[in-house]
Amino acid sequence: MGTRLGSKTALVTGAAGALGGAVARSFADEGVERLVLVDLDPVRAEKLAGEDWAAGVDVIADGLDVTDGDAYDALVARIVAEHGSVDVVVNAAGNVSPYAPIHELSTEDFEKSLRAHLTGTFHTIRAVARAQRGAAPASIVAIASVAGMTVWPNAAPYSAAKAGVIQLSRVAAREYAEDGIRVNAVCPGTFLSSRHEAMSQSTLEAIGARHPLGFGSSGDITGAIVYLACDESRWVTGHALVVDGGCALG
Ligand SMILES: NC(=O)c1ccc[n+]([C@@H]2O[C@H](COP(=O)([O-])OP(=O)(O)OC[C@H]3O[C@@H](n4cnc5c(N)ncnc54)[C@H](O)[C@@H]3O)[C@@H](O)[C@H]2O)c1
Repeated sequence: MGTRLGSKTALVTGAAGALGGAVARSFADEGVERLVLVDLDPVRAEKLAGEDWAAGVDVIADGLDVTDGDAYDALVARIVAEHGSVDVVVNAAGNVSPYAPIHELSTEDFEKSLRAHLTGTFHTIRAVARAQRGAAPASIVAIASVAGMTVWPNAAPYSAAKAGVIQLSRVAAREYAEDGIRVNAVCPGTFLSSRHEAMSQSTLEAIGARHPLGFGSSGDITGAIVYLACDESRWVTGHALVVDGGCALG
């Protein structure tokens, strides 16, 4: 058990997912004081909050659609009003984006991916800035992807959204540095999650072959997120930290 997140209040979106759940457990391992776990699916978020690992942590589970900016503002304002500040936010919410060449995609296909990944990150940063700019420092960790910096054919909506997440994080880092609000992105390579369940073995093998160190797991990403969340990274902002088993090397 570590203490790197002791006395902090952390909010994790997409908490019912593979990465969100792993982040919640890692934060508990690092002594986080309070965890707010939100997901589009509140039942799964509540189930996670009731597990053994959460004993000893003040855990609140709730529903939140990150595409709803007003709801996001209200949630963060409520945490700040009740607990003084939100010290860490990890935006791990994300949907499964369509996999097809651009000419086969509808406008709705494209915008659905942008809304979940890019607009959701925009709402994350905006809610924190609105609630505590000039009042309390914070660390925001946006989950991008190596797909936002390399070229994956048939993944245009996802790649464009994740490239946007990286650049949005950089702009926000500059805008809010003077307020002590740090904004960094983590760019994972492929780690197994529910989104891979329907894939064939050959597709999984092809994806695995893109990663010189092999397929990752959500636990391979959490160390980078804990680092960016805690005070060890207090002089790091506007960074895109690639954790991808060497995928971006090509
Ligand atoms: N799995 C990978 O290989 C991989 C690689 C790089 C980046 N990522 C990114 O990591 C993040 C987490 O991915 P994962 O693999 O854990 O996915 P996952 O599907 O296991 O979890 C995603 C969670 O987000 C929730 N969600 C979806 N839309 C939402 C919304 N609008 N508001 C709130 N919650 C919403 C889902 O209910 C789900 O619980 C995503 O941003 C994903 O793009 C994943």
